[in-house]
Amino acid sequence: MKEKPAGLKSGLVSYGDPEFSLFLRKSFIKSAGYSDDALDRPIVGITNTYSGYNGCHRTVPELVEAVKRGVMLAGALPIDFPTISMHESFSHPTSMFLRNLMAIDVEEMIRAQPMDAVVLIGGCDKTVPALLMGAASAGVPAILEVTGPMMTGSHRGERLAACTDCRRQWARFRAGEIDREEIDAVSGRLAPTAGTCGVMGTASTMALAAEALGMMLPGGATIPAVQSERLVHAEETGRRAAALASEGVPPARIMTRESVENALRVVHAVGGSTNALVHLTAVAGRLGIEIDLDAFDRIGRETPMLVDLKPSGTKYMEDLHRAGGLATVLREIRGLLNLDCETIDGRTLGQVLDAAPAPWQQDVVHQASDPVFAGGAVRVLRGNLAPRGALIKQSAASRELLEHRGRAVVFESLEDMDRRLDSPELEVSDDDVLVLKNAGPVGAPGMPEAGYIPIPKKLAARGVKDMVRLSDARMSGTAFGTIVLHVTPEAAVGGPLALVRDGDVIRLATAEGRLELEVDEAELARRRDEWRPPEHPGAERGYKKLFLEQVLQADEGCDFAFLKPGPTADSKPGGGVRD
Ligand code: FES
Repeated sequence: MKEKPAGLKSGLVSYGDPEFSLFLRKSFIKSAGYSDDALDRPIVGITNTYSGYNGCHRTVPELVEAVKRGVMLAGALPIDFPTISMHESFSHPTSMFLRNLMAIDVEEMIRAQPMDAVVLIGGCDKTVPALLMGAASAGVPAILEVTGPMMTGSHRGERLAACTDCRRQWARFRAGEIDREEIDAVSGRLAPTAGTCGVMGTASTMALAAEALGMMLPGGATIPAVQSERLVHAEETGRRAAALASEGVPPARIMTRESVENALRVVHAVGGSTNALVHLTAVAGRLGIEIDLDAFDRIGRETPMLVDLKPSGTKYMEDLHRAGGLATVLREIRGLLNLDCETIDGRTLGQVLDAAPAPWQQDVVHQASDPVFAGGAVRVLRGNLAPRGALIKQSAASRELLEHRGRAVVFESLEDMDRRLDSPELEVSDDDVLVLKNAGPVGAPGMPEAGYIPIPKKLAARGVKDMVRLSDARMSGTAFGTIVLHVTPEAAVGGPLALVRDGDVIRLATAEGRLELEVDEAELARRRDEWRPPEHPGAERGYKKLFLEQVLQADEGCDFAFLKPGPTADSKPGGGVRD
């Protein structure tokens, strides 16, 4: 059998003469000063996600250098290449709108350029899922290195880190508890070092999920971005990538149904971000693995939430690292894990856990017998308002609001909410349910993290800290509140959420997993006849057109229909409602 071309000989550009293609390729790359010896080695590509806009990735250049060192120590040739980089606050209209674009970029650049393995460097929320999605589809052996979490800072003796504290301090400012001068001072202290958000937000959750998935060397999820240990881990990742280049282990051998289940379990055990479900659904979907919401709910009910980190708890990622990182969590839920899953370092998850350092006294990861939250940190809700599901992170909600009936106060869109939320004329009381429509995958578009609807100013000023809030949007993993998210199908494609009007009664029954709109069917049918889809100015061309035509609903990971491995009977691009 003819051997598959490797190293510089793989994926030659078509000039009709392969030898000429290789000659030309070598001639050009020699302009970068490579010797023939270097060019004859296996190649490890490295995604360089540095961007001046992305403070979470400020350390990527030194990580790239450390990875290169590891690759070269193992005798292969490292070559880094740029990919799209996205920071949450610098991705208009929302980074979720761009996640699939980054995934396409990653997939196609891995495919286009010669490499026998690839090191994926990412960190900020959407970058890790985009890297894993792209790598899963490209099929080249891949290993992940995250930038790592930021360290905490302090303000007037109080520990701070992005971004639970960002929201909490901003809520204090809105309520008039602190003045402009103080909130300005706080803004300089919330992100005191490079690295990803320091709490159990989406970046931390995805890092831990990726390590549990087996795509990262042990311990990598929690090492702070600015510690020397992070560079040692990156060097080791480079060394391992060189071995993967020879071993040829494809991502599909690591990311399996069983390892995805481990990752979902970890999301529950760490009290992770609801966003992780959307992202893991998209990553798994690239390999033909479907995630069933009911299975996710069951896994949640079986899995105790153990990690005392904000927003559900009190501590920060650097504390989790000091407590032993993911291994300390996995040890507590060992009996629930698929331990035979192969990890990227060549051992099974069970072998990795057996080799982990012995536990020590710590107060961040609770024992399974004494959890932070007994089970179901994230609960799936269904009902006539969310036939294809909705989520509530009950571990980060007010217990007394988890069972609630209230009158809907409806905002038709983000713009409508911006305009009226703080108006003194808004008729609202703290028993009401704030409803935001048209903020889903198609509606916004891009399903922004707008589910954390601020408490209307006049209620905030009276000391109201939480209310039931409901939308088809997502929520930052760093947010706290009784917030129902990902209502599916979304309003913009005609889901029942589109039919909710001011004054309707909504029933949230978290223990039962129900979300009901208490309006009779005849009235809903009448409203359905009157409903018209929202318009999308500027969607005649370009990426926005592609996005609106192809994006799937939240329960399918918001991937593009054409990026899934094969036609799926149920997937309707453009957010079509599935019966
Ligand atoms: Fe980058 Fe939070 S903004 S991880």
